[in-house]
Amino acid sequence: MLKDIVIVTLVCIIILLMGDKIFQPPQEFNDRLSVIPESCTTIDNNMYNEKFFVEGWWDLSSKSITSGLHALNPVRRDYFQNLIREHVNGSNLNIVDIGCGGGILTEALAIINPSSNITGLDQSSNSIQTAADHAKQSNVNNIHYAVSSAYSIPLPDSFADVVVMSDVLEHLHDLTLAMSEVSRILKPGGIFLYDTINRNRFTVAFIIFTEHIIKIIPRGAHDWRLFITPDEMIKLSNKVGLSSCPPSEMRGMSPRLSLKSLENIFMSILSGNNPCNYIISDIYENGFLFGNYLGYSLKNKVRL
Ligand SMILES: C[S@@+](CC[C@H](N)C(=O)[O-])C[C@H]1O[C@@H](n2cnc3c(N)ncnc32)[C@H](O)[C@@H]1O
Repeated sequence: MLKDIVIVTLVCIIILLMGDKIFQPPQEFNDRLSVIPESCTTIDNNMYNEKFFVEGWWDLSSKSITSGLHALNPVRRDYFQNLIREHVNGSNLNIVDIGCGGGILTEALAIINPSSNITGLDQSSNSIQTAADHAKQSNVNNIHYAVSSAYSIPLPDSFADVVVMSDVLEHLHDLTLAMSEVSRILKPGGIFLYDTINRNRFTVAFIIFTEHIIKIIPRGAHDWRLFITPDEMIKLSNKVGLSSCPPSEMRGMSPRLSLKSLENIFMSILSGNNPCNYIISDIYENGFLFGNYLGYSLKNKVRL
């Protein structure tokens, strides 16, 4: 009981002292939507070719490197699927998942859209190999995987009904080029679906905590300066000829935190254990956009 009171008091003091600052996006690069030289970022996108990642894609244990992505998967799959049903007609859809990694979301989308053709693309050849092997073992036969950069997609104009980028945009140094490719391959009337990480003091603190202090995410997996605010996502969509959903239709994804789960997180850190279990348990869709958030943009239909 005393412990609970101490935790609540500490959280209240932090919010009171920092409340106005927490939701201000810290600015390191002048303009997130202009090209950021790769040499200026600390993100290491080559780690997706390393053994620890390639073998971790389908490791379903709570201590796996991809446990966070697995925990987010049902929430993002359901948000995306509802939008596909609402905005795109037909069953033989071309769905393209850019930056698909080991295929966690790609496979989930393929299973719930069995008569659609899914294309999974990623710059990491080892991850693509893992994704293809896993789909084969699981008898999921409607996915075609290929190695490709998000900056130059080997698909014709107006190919896709649906383009997905899940947990990928915050890895890119040239957002405008990648999103121009998305816009180019989308059919008029098609939909772009994404989730990404907001840039504010909360997410900076989260990355420092998880990558540098408790080290449950490899250092270099993120560079918080590449995170993207919802306002920037709206501007970016407009810049490449897509119409963004309004912020009211964007949704947050976060763990359902309770006093008990906060206490479990603190206690497992204090006792030197991995708190991952508690951090990622019970992820749900909500209206809080301060962390990981979901959104969509539409390519306008051609007027006859
Ligand atoms: C955090 S993982 C997300 C994987 C997958 N979308 C998921 O959510 O399960 C980020 C992925 O983006 C890929 N990636 C990063 N930069 C890329 C680029 N320029 N072109 C294509 N893929 C890229 C990485 O190789 C990695 O597989």
